[in-house]
Amino acid sequence: MILEARSVGKTFPDGTRGLDGASLGIQTPCFMVLSGTNGSGKSLLARHFLGLEKPDSGEVLVDGKPLATCLAEARRRIALVFQEPEHQILGMTVREDVEFGPRASGTPAVVRERTVGEAIRAAGLSGMEDRLASALSGGEKRRLAVASALVTRPELVILDEPFNDLDWAGASELLGLLLSLRAEGTGILVVTHDLEKCLAHADRLAVMEAGRVIRDGSPAALWDSLPALGLRRLPGSVDALAAMTWAGKPA
Ligand SMILES: Nc1ncnc2c1ncn2[C@@H]1O[C@H](COP(=O)(O)OP(=O)(O)OP(=O)(O)O)[C@@H](O)[C@H]1O
Ligand SMILES: [Mg+2]
Repeated sequence: MILEARSVGKTFPDGTRGLDGASLGIQTPCFMVLSGTNGSGKSLLARHFLGLEKPDSGEVLVDGKPLATCLAEARRRIALVFQEPEHQILGMTVREDVEFGPRASGTPAVVRERTVGEAIRAAGLSGMEDRLASALSGGEKRRLAVASALVTRPELVILDEPFNDLDWAGASELLGLLLSLRAEGTGILVVTHDLEKCLAHADRLAVMEAGRVIRDGSPAALWDSLPALGLRRLPGSVDALAAMTWAGKPA
């Protein structure tokens, strides 16, 4: 699948220019990182990719088709884990929340039971199936959002600041899960300024500034310019990437 933003512009009624000609193409499978400083437009671009915001100029295309003409299909194929996970809780309990998508799409009960169980296990929530979703801790809510996004097996998963609230074990487990999905052919787009936890595994890094994508290349090629882009680079050469591994082996 190819998901593409072409010169997307978005100005809010209060005059804030959220996106200013943002262009980015994502081809699956991949492990891509979209970074940039606070307010550079990362979350807003992610929301445009799911049709949750409408551009006032430019367009979003899925396999070359305008997103507006294939929105339902796009939302089956692409999942977004929000920066604020409480915004996407739809069920009372953990199990009901993860079941929500498969139930809405008419997945048979026996298949649902298996896929929901797998997603809950993969997200590290085993044993918490009957807990109230709204009463979970911040890190547990993030795990729940991940489980609910993955349960329908999307082709591309966009995760907005997925490591926020996660402890070290939770962050490395999530990274391990993303790497295994990538190995199975899923596209992974991690939206984050927290490069330390994921850049070693990325095959591509794009950086936003003031509502547009100003850099797009391999992590190694962009390594030296990270500080000038307002992003943290560990001391040392690009070899430091290998030392940044949080799970598994560097790609
Ligand atoms: N509904 C809105 N109304 C007005 N301005 C908005 C709205 N949504 C986003 N913006 C503005 O658009 C810009 C980009 O916001 P966005 O949330 O995409 O930033 P970000 O790169 O994800 O930042 P962070 O790293 O803090 O998550 C910001 O200046 C933000 O204030
Ligand atoms: Mg954001």
